[in-house]
Amino acid sequence: MDWGMKNRMAKIIRPDTGRALMLAVDHGYFLGPTTRLEVPRKTIEPLLPYADSIMLTRGVLRTSVDPSTATSVVLRVSGGVSIIGPSLSNEGITTSIKDAIRLNVAGVGLSVFIGTEHERQTLLSLAELVNQGEEYGIPVMAITAVGRELEKRDARFLSLCCRICAEIGAHMVKTYYCEDFEKVTESCPVPIVIAGGPKLATELDVLEMAYNAIQRGAVGVDMGRNIWQSDYPVAMIRAIRAIVHEGYTPKEALDLFMTLKEEEVKKRAAVN
Ligand code: R5P
Repeated sequence: MDWGMKNRMAKIIRPDTGRALMLAVDHGYFLGPTTRLEVPRKTIEPLLPYADSIMLTRGVLRTSVDPSTATSVVLRVSGGVSIIGPSLSNEGITTSIKDAIRLNVAGVGLSVFIGTEHERQTLLSLAELVNQGEEYGIPVMAITAVGRELEKRDARFLSLCCRICAEIGAHMVKTYYCEDFEKVTESCPVPIVIAGGPKLATELDVLEMAYNAIQRGAVGVDMGRNIWQSDYPVAMIRAIRAIVHEGYTPKEALDLFMTLKEEEVKKRAAVN
């Protein structure tokens, strides 16, 4: 790996812990104004100091993130579909590598839809993006998307997806947590982060998922809804951060969440 590529990777995966806390706020690229992400700046600003990197589109980056931020950027560069269109998998590349460089990104991310009618198209887009990333020293994160078929999230399917992405040259992969997750990480020669998926029932569920994913070989999380759809998003990201970078157990992280939540409750009461 060349120096530039290594330097950018170090802005996504912290060299001192070997772990990554990525904040995903790219959902609008196909969902529009998702619940609690209606005004991106409002959602992003309080969370940004606690994330190593933020994952989003160029439109939200330019309009809603202060350029003086110390948090790295992983730019979503695929899209072209919407939740109300005929097919979520029919994605292409939306953003040139030149624009990604202009935005000083640490990495770029693109979804692949393996097992769908668009697997070839999205995998060839990944290959093209890797070619460009290698040329300019920009790491590429492949995202193993499942569209509406959330039931596809099992170790057999996800290990096939992650391995194919790594074989094509992705520098890291984002996938879902699943049972027997170690089968997914063991057979993928590049680092894996997990998406959070739809909001889970309790905070402990989220913390356990992050903890278990790391225990089973993930380098971290690229999480969205389970952070910013929480009623206490800052407490949530700080609790997850404690698991990712500080070795907290889910129970310890939940205690931290409860303490921070109490502080927030008092602060909000004082304002009202
Ligand atoms: C899909 O919209 C994106 O790839 C998200 O970045 C990804 O699903 C992570 O977000 P969440 O934790 O909300 O699933």
